Amino acid sequence: MTAVALVPAAGQGVRLGLGTPKALVPVHGTPLLTHAVRGLLDAGCVRHVVVAAPPAEVAATAALLAEAGLAADVVPGGADRTDSVRRALRHALTVVPDARVVLVHDAARAFTPPEVIQAVVAAVEAGAPAVIPVLPMADTVKQVDGGGTVTATPDRAALRVVQTPQGFDVEVLTRAYAAAGDSATDDAGLVEKLGVPVATVMGHPCAMKITTPFDLAIAEAVLCAKRN
Ligand code: CTP
Ligand code: MG
Repeated sequence: MTAVALVPAAGQGVRLGLGTPKALVPVHGTPLLTHAVRGLLDAGCVRHVVVAAPPAEVAATAALLAEAGLAADVVPGGADRTDSVRRALRHALTVVPDARVVLVHDAARAFTPPEVIQAVVAAVEAGAPAVIPVLPMADTVKQVDGGGTVTATPDRAALRVVQTPQGFDVEVLTRAYAAAGDSATDDAGLVEKLGVPVATVMGHPCAMKITTPFDLAIAEAVLCAKRN
């Protein structure tokens, strides 16, 4: 197995509004992060996991993963997702210097099916420098100006919704992060700026990001039940 997985989990979960870091919020009694790390390890193609946790929660996060029997390193995350990934990547390169494939996987996409993880890793191992799971758009999308007036209607057939894990050749992601500014919402976006092609594989509705109380309700009612 050549892949290491970075799991940014240091966000505060403001939109969820529970006053707890989102990665520690339970679904069916188990924290989202535990579901996410278990999903990565169970996929059978990830050799090492590095989690970026809220700095005040590093010890507690390491303890809860250990209690669940999940082998993962936990490092302090940063002020934004980019910084958290950067810190996790630095640690991963130190502990697994011969890693060839790096996955970046949001803790908030805790119920991503194993076949999505496997497809991303397989595509990078087959030679793609960067691979992202995507889904077609169900809704029409409009571009608007600052006042909310529509300025364009992009062709929906050419649009995709992007999920994680995103997979990269380790050298490409390292270069992308070396060139990155302070903040980016999407790792593949940093790779695109290098002029490196980004390939796509089929994502899955269960890889949805849990952002709002509505999403959490879906996770409780549907996603977790499907996994177990
Ligand atoms: N993340 C991180 N470090 C940060 C901010 C976010 O590692 N400083 C992680 C989150 O923990 C999450 C992923 O990036 O797994 C995607 O972020 P998001 O869904 O926005 O989570 P939060 O930032 O926790 O949520 P919110 O924006 O509502 O506060
Ligand atoms: Mg956020």
